[in-house]
Amino acid sequence: MQSWLIPFSYLLAGIFFILAIRSLSSPYTAHRGNIIGMFGMLIAIITTICSPLVDKYLYILVAITCGGIIGIFFAFKVRIASLPQMIAVFNGLGGLAAVFISLSEIINGSHAYFDISIGLIIGALAFSGSMIAFAKLQELLPSGAFVFRYQQQINLFLLLTLITLCIIFLLTPQINLFYWLTAIAIILGFLLVLPIGGADMPVVISVLNSYTGWAAVGIGFSLNNILLIITGSLVGAGGAILSYIMVKAMNRSLTNVLLGGFGQKVNSTTSAEKNKKVNIGSAQDAAYIMENAHKVIIVPGYGMAVAQAQYVLQKMAEDLRTLYNVDVKFAIHPVAGRMPGHMNVLLAEANIPYEDVFALEDINHEFASADVAYVIGANDITNPLAKTDSSSPIYGMPILDVEKAKIVFFVKRSLASGYSGIENPLFFANNTIMLYGDAKQVTEEIVNTLEQNNL
Ligand code: TAP
Repeated sequence: MQSWLIPFSYLLAGIFFILAIRSLSSPYTAHRGNIIGMFGMLIAIITTICSPLVDKYLYILVAITCGGIIGIFFAFKVRIASLPQMIAVFNGLGGLAAVFISLSEIINGSHAYFDISIGLIIGALAFSGSMIAFAKLQELLPSGAFVFRYQQQINLFLLLTLITLCIIFLLTPQINLFYWLTAIAIILGFLLVLPIGGADMPVVISVLNSYTGWAAVGIGFSLNNILLIITGSLVGAGGAILSYIMVKAMNRSLTNVLLGGFGQKVNSTTSAEKNKKVNIGSAQDAAYIMENAHKVIIVPGYGMAVAQAQYVLQKMAEDLRTLYNVDVKFAIHPVAGRMPGHMNVLLAEANIPYEDVFALEDINHEFASADVAYVIGANDITNPLAKTDSSSPIYGMPILDVEKAKIVFFVKRSLASGYSGIENPLFFANNTIMLYGDAKQVTEEIVNTLEQNNL
């Protein structure tokens, strides 16, 4: 391949990646965005294979085949509710790749010590941090915050040691120091993520994603590879922007999230509350009330994703509209579920038209004029304590004002708390009716009743 053609092709691939991200910003163009991104990746892979620096074709073929098979297997197997874990693993592997490339560069006698160290340290932090994030999300470790005495002091000590070792390594490069740098960065990654728990894990994953991007930039400089620099910058900046958007939606600061301690079980239930009366209804009651309503706003949350209730929810909305002429809308909280866009993806999967789906700021004022808020598998995103209780860990988070609707149905299996571990006082409100059960089963029963009542 001509020498000018390689940077040119890499630049072309970079342009395709940028166009892909642009298209991914809207559900209408996201599919096209994926195809553009895949095309960019194809250009990148072919260019790399054709580069004169590459000669071990067999290794590359084996790696691509194994990676491809594993990737396709998990793409089919992993449920959408588990995507955050998968992203955590991908991140971790990206970080680990940066560590291996750095090590091989040093072993092969590269002198770009600064760039390599940056790539190594950030990659190792991203690797171990992502593994902890994965273990927490997969519930291999308790998902809450794990806090111990002198934690922040220990982290600070490790960070200072890392910086000192890095400076010594730059002045007197020795391979042993490099191994120490790797080990300390990996330990620091573990310790930095352990105290972060509960609701903050997706933010952490996004921050680690950003780290992996910057690690790739470091490696890109050391290898003089413009594609790594471009894609690393895109991932680094993308992760940073996403983290910012998420913490803003939770009304927190990034420092507050990264220092940890949030997400420990908080028992805000008073004994008075425990004795409070709960209105319990049946699917038949809910069907009757909704078929006589003018406006129903559906609020999906994490439990809808777990129950995979989006298809039957689509059926319920369609029946209410076509059989009973009810105005049905969907309200999406920016942090509903467990990852950005979680609910949007599921509703789109069930062919719920985008024009029926509204963001918090566009629909919140409509609850006051709604007859019913149908809250399905959601909890924290409706919790009014976020507005009233300054001691609550979710204080300040914007919430969906479901309590303003005439009747609020909560479809869930119990009075259990949501991800942040806080009880929701709305369960005991006069205008709330609890519909106990699995989100899919309850909604199926409602659909059956709606259809029978119309015969
Ligand atoms: P949660 O507050 O976590 O509540 C989900 C509820 O679903 C639970 O209370 C659970 O109650 C119920 N549930 C679980 N399985 C169910 C099933 N099969 N059928 C019916 N109900 C079921 O969810 P949310 O309201 O969507 O709030 C999201 C939380 O995640 C927020 O705290 C948010 O800050 C956090 N978070 C989200 C993101 C993103 S980007 N989405 C990022 C970081 C953090 P039962 O056990 O009683 O059924």
